[in-house]
Amino acid sequence: MRILMIGDVIGKPGRRAVQEFLPGLRHEYRLDLVMANGENAAGGLGITVSTAQELLESGVDVITTGNHVWAKREIIPYLDTMELPIIRPLNLPPGAPGHGFMLKKKVLIVNLIGRVFMREYDCPFRAMDSLLSELKDETKVVIVDFHAEATSEKVAMGRYLDGRVSALFGTHTHVGTIDTCILPRGTSYVTDVGMVGPADSVIGDDADSVLHSFLTQMPHRLSVGKGKSIFNAVLTEVDKITGKALNIQRIQREEEDE
Ligand SMILES: [Fe+2]
Ligand SMILES: [Fe+2]
Repeated sequence: MRILMIGDVIGKPGRRAVQEFLPGLRHEYRLDLVMANGENAAGGLGITVSTAQELLESGVDVITTGNHVWAKREIIPYLDTMELPIIRPLNLPPGAPGHGFMLKKKVLIVNLIGRVFMREYDCPFRAMDSLLSELKDETKVVIVDFHAEATSEKVAMGRYLDGRVSALFGTHTHVGTIDTCILPRGTSYVTDVGMVGPADSVIGDDADSVLHSFLTQMPHRLSVGKGKSIFNAVLTEVDKITGKALNIQRIQREEEDE
């Protein structure tokens, strides 16, 4: 199976780039499943029904999220009913709306969130252990989006899950890393997929407003950057019988100058 994971999609420029590049990639690489992190899809913070639908219409099958999942409250009932294929991190405390995993095309897709330099979520390592033992008979193909800040925590999770999941893709920093690899026991791994959003920005937001906020330490409402977008994704091929990864590669695209 060929599975594409698209990094955090940032606002309208990000959604536009997904629409521009994904249909061609689906065809070119004969993709079986496409996942995208949509936590920044609506104006850079959160996701709405219409922005989710836009991603789905462009060819995304499953949308993962992260710390910004609650920013647009209209999505909450949809997370509960799973009327839309959107998941939120698994290791949120009991009582949080929504679901941390879903089965799609015989693939178990899981969303985890990290705790280093983030909030005090439940333990992502133990949450994953429980889920894997609960669903061990469902499928061999398991893909995880680990939404986390610290490279150490992501590398550690890669080692922890190596051989037990097909792929572990990091998201959240919006900066893609160069370490795509197959770990020793057969798991595809990358510390961060990157983002789909404006190239001329600070991780997707308008550079001037981010700099103003750093220099003055004043709270500042950030806006999504403008101009052409970069498209960061990772493609992995997985053996659907064994669940082992066969290969992994980065897929990079960039919009033309206007
Ligand atoms: Fe993000
Ligand atoms: Fe995030």
